[in-house]
Amino acid sequence: MPESPLPPGSTIGILGGGQLGRMLAVAASQLGLRSHIYSDEAATPAFDVAAARTVGSYADMDALTRFAGTVDVVTCEFENVPAETLEAAARVVPVFPPVRSFAVAQDRLIEKDFLTSLGVQVAPYAPVDTLEDLRAALARIKPPVLLKTRRFGYDGKGQISIRAADDAAAALEAIGQVPALLEGLVRFEREVSVIVVRGQDGELQFYDAVENVHENGILAISRAPARISLSAGVAAKTIAGKIAEALSHVGVLCVEMFERTGERPELIVNEIAPRVHNSGHWTLDACLVSQFENHVRAICGWPLGDTARHSDALMTNLIGADAEKWRALASEAGTSVHLYGKTEARPGRKMGHVTRLFPKS
Ligand SMILES: Nc1ncnc2c1ncn2[C@@H]1O[C@H](COP(=O)(O)OP(=O)(O)O)[C@@H](O)[C@H]1O
Ligand SMILES: [Mg+2]
Repeated sequence: MPESPLPPGSTIGILGGGQLGRMLAVAASQLGLRSHIYSDEAATPAFDVAAARTVGSYADMDALTRFAGTVDVVTCEFENVPAETLEAAARVVPVFPPVRSFAVAQDRLIEKDFLTSLGVQVAPYAPVDTLEDLRAALARIKPPVLLKTRRFGYDGKGQISIRAADDAAAALEAIGQVPALLEGLVRFEREVSVIVVRGQDGELQFYDAVENVHENGILAISRAPARISLSAGVAAKTIAGKIAEALSHVGVLCVEMFERTGERPELIVNEIAPRVHNSGHWTLDACLVSQFENHVRAICGWPLGDTARHSDALMTNLIGADAEKWRALASEAGTSVHLYGKTEARPGRKMGHVTRLFPKS
C-alpha cells in the first residue's frame, strides 16, 4: 500500500519500448507524469514519446539499477521480462505489476496449474518434456491438439498442431525440443477477453468483455462489447477479478477466454497477460479512461478511472502492409487511426490499429 499516490511530475519507468509502452507513455503524459523508457533496441516506438530513454540489455543489472534510480515506479510493457530484471528494479523502487504475475503468465504450465487451483476451467493439458511424455499425453488428450512451448510464445509463435499421434516426434522437433505443454483443442463459439485493472488498495474495475478474432495466431479484430449473454459477461468479469485478486495484481491484466455455447455455456480460460493488451486498444476511443491510463493510475496509486463504454467499437489491427492504407483510413468518418511509428513493415508486424465507433448498443 502506498502512503500516498505519486503526484503529477513523477516519473514512471517502463521496461520495454514497443507500442504498448508508447501508448502508456502518452497516457502518463496526459496525467502530468513523465516516462523513462528502458529498451534493448535503439529505435523503438515508445522512445518517440518519452521524456527519457535508456538503451540497455535486460540482463545489465547495473544499467537497470541506474535506470530504476531515476524513476518513481517501474512497470513493464512486455510479458517476457526476466524475473531478475524486475527484481533488480524492485530493489530500488516499487515495481508493479508484482513479479508473481509475470512468473505465472510466462510459463504456460505454471499458468494452467495456477488457474486450475483457482477452480477456473482450462483446456485439458499435460506437461511435455520428452517424446515419451508426449506419447503418453497423446493417449489421454486425443488429437487434434496443440503442442505449445511453455515459455516465450506470442502471436501464435511457439505452437504447432498435432493431427495424429504419429506426428508426435516431428511436432516436438518443430518447436525445438523445449519444455512444452500439450493442450486439447477447444471447439469454441468465440474468443473473448476481459481487461481488469486492480489498484494498490485492491479496488477492481473492469472493461466490458470483447470478442476477438485471431488470424494466423495474431489478433486481427476486437469487437466491443462481445456478443455474449449478460450472464456470460458477468461470469467473464468474475473470473478475471478472481485471477487479479489471487495474484495481488496491481495494474491492468487481460484474461483471454474461449466461450463454448450449448446447454450449459462455458468459459474456458486460454491465457492471461499481466499488462495492457491489444484487445483493450478500443478503450482509448470508446471509454472515458483507457486501459493505458488506468494502468498508469494503478501503478501510481491513483484512484482508478471510469471504465464505462460510451460507444460500441470495432478495433482492427494494421498488420504489415495494412498500414500503407493510412491515408484512406484517416479520411474515414467515425474512425480513429493509431500508428506506432515503426519504419519497417514486416509481415505479421503490428504497425498500428484503427477503431471504428458506433452508437452504444
Ligand atoms: N486450446 C486451444 N483450442 C483452440 N484454439 C486455441 C487453443 N490454444 C490457442 N488457440 C488459438 O490460437 C491463438 C493463440 O494462442 P495463445 O495460446 O493465445 O498463444 P499466444 O501466446 O501466441 O497468444 C488463440 O487466441 C486461439 O485462437
Ligand atoms: Mg494469446
